[in-house]
Amino acid sequence: MAKVQITDTILRDGHQSQAATRMRTEEMLPACEMLDKVGYYSLECWGGATFDSCLRFLNEDPWERLRKLRKALPNTKLQMLLRGQNLLGYRPYADDVVEEFVRLAIKNGIDIIRCFDALNDLRNMQTAVKATKKYGGIAEIALSYTESPVHDEDYFVNLAVEIEKMGADLICIKDMANLLLPYKAYSLVKRLKAATKLPIVLHTHNTTGTGDMVLMKAIEAGVDVVDTCLSPLGSGTAQPATETLVATMAGTEYDTGLDLNLLAQLAEYFRPVADRLTADGWRDPARVLGVDVKTLQYQVPGGMLSNLIGQLKQANQLDKYYDVLAEVPRVRKDFGYPPLVTPTSQIVGTQAVMNVLSGERYKMVPKESKDLLAGNYGRLPAEVNEDVRKKCIGDTKVITHRYADDVPPELEKLKDEMRQWYMQEEDVLSYAMFPKVAPKFFEYRAAQQLKVDSTMLNAEEKTMPV
Ligand code: CO
Repeated sequence: MAKVQITDTILRDGHQSQAATRMRTEEMLPACEMLDKVGYYSLECWGGATFDSCLRFLNEDPWERLRKLRKALPNTKLQMLLRGQNLLGYRPYADDVVEEFVRLAIKNGIDIIRCFDALNDLRNMQTAVKATKKYGGIAEIALSYTESPVHDEDYFVNLAVEIEKMGADLICIKDMANLLLPYKAYSLVKRLKAATKLPIVLHTHNTTGTGDMVLMKAIEAGVDVVDTCLSPLGSGTAQPATETLVATMAGTEYDTGLDLNLLAQLAEYFRPVADRLTADGWRDPARVLGVDVKTLQYQVPGGMLSNLIGQLKQANQLDKYYDVLAEVPRVRKDFGYPPLVTPTSQIVGTQAVMNVLSGERYKMVPKESKDLLAGNYGRLPAEVNEDVRKKCIGDTKVITHRYADDVPPELEKLKDEMRQWYMQEEDVLSYAMFPKVAPKFFEYRAAQQLKVDSTMLNAEEKTMPV
């Protein structure tokens, strides 16, 4: 069966990549009945930045969004993206928090958990994968795709073999920067299919304009599932457009079997949503839909380039842009070639900026760079430049075991800390992910609750016999 299946990302990566993750639950729900009829492999709808955005910007409970989507999409598998031991936050959590998060994500409606680690250190994913299996979920492990002297095809094939041994159900090639070019995708998928029995999924973006070709070559090589996004928020910095791929494959041996008319109706629904996001300033069509060839040239993801420009502008040193661009690969080499994805893209980028602006390499070293060099984020893929490490962290001992082994259980402590806001068991996890932002949301929620209660009270008073 060569039929290819599709995961649509319009409810997660689509608006995360094009519109700062600002789509609201109320804009998703009216489309769900139609989305549920399509016959997707799954809908990616949670995780990544959605959780943060709900609490921080939209005054929404991310768990409530998940429950509503689950109810509105009874026939479609729901999928989330998880940063391994960091869950949806920016630090490694204790194992008891990871297990509790996974349990509640599945309980509230998630079917598939796609797990990744910025360094491809499988130890950072083992607790999440074990918990996913324990609570009846489908465990997908993603390879963070990058290129370097150590990141060749053999590297990813070996990693895939290890992933299969870990008990994952699917393997995803996660090409966050659209660096994997079409013929390389063909070759990598062929080799992964030969090396493991697991289904292979491909996640890419269309940032460099090659996304559609990448999917096509991967499909010819036998990839099982590809990520696409309905056209109103598809292509450009997001995934290649769903309708384009479905039309291309129709009538071939790879036919997706999806109904183009139904997809067109969905696009009609989501177009005004995309327009709203544009009108509110969250989406700049010229920028998100343009072809970014700099990524191909410098191997630096598009999002990272705009961060670098921002940092240089702030320092009034935009003329150093090309010096910083040249420094990025040198820092990356010194640090043992980490893939450039959250959070390593920020760490390497910031260090490169500091190296150039301070006039002396590694004169200024942020805590995150030190942690990375000390092994706190996990095993670095290649040899680290020991002179640089010495200059940055001195004689600090480099850890070689799994960092989370040193983190004591913390669930009970977190429960204690947030007791005053507790309304449901999920709140503890919201607090654990975003200890500064979640309380603000809890206060907002309590105030709303008070409003509802008092309107009901007033209504009661008015209907009381006088
Ligand atoms: Co992505």
